[in-house]
Amino acid sequence: MRETAMSETAIAANIVPEHAENGDTKTRRAFLAAASVAGIGYAAALAYPVYRYLASPSEMALSAAAVTEVTLKDAEKLPAGSVLMFKFGTAPAMLIHHADNSWVALTAVCTHLGCTVQYEPQMDRIHCACHGGVYNAYTGANVSGPPPKPLKLFKVAVNDTGVEVSRG
Ligand code: FES
Repeated sequence: MRETAMSETAIAANIVPEHAENGDTKTRRAFLAAASVAGIGYAAALAYPVYRYLASPSEMALSAAAVTEVTLKDAEKLPAGSVLMFKFGTAPAMLIHHADNSWVALTAVCTHLGCTVQYEPQMDRIHCACHGGVYNAYTGANVSGPPPKPLKLFKVAVNDTGVEVSRG
């Protein structure tokens, strides 16, 4: 008698209506699918900033190389003996209006370790504060300090509405 009751209980526990099992399965599958999509979205959201960080140097180099000319509006009004810093592509550059009324445009990235260089009008030179590199402010030649190469010169065309700077 007792044995019969247990087996009826066991049988009752194993009997699950077919539609109920399908509903549970569908719900579980829908949940897993939604969780998978959310997981993929979350992983992509985490990975994108890492990708941007790692890809940025090469993208910056490509972007900088793609720019061949920059127009600096109203730069013809730059007083003699002063400098205008600007971006050529993604790299810093400088336009110098010398006291003798000549114009020079150069990259402002030190050829030693890549610091941004500064024009020093009182000494009429370009100086890199990182390790004391010095460049000629007319030719970009590396004059003293650790820089191994000269700064790159750009072509300069001054007109009534601005200054056009282009790769030579
Ligand atoms: S980075 Fe300019 S002198 Fe070293």
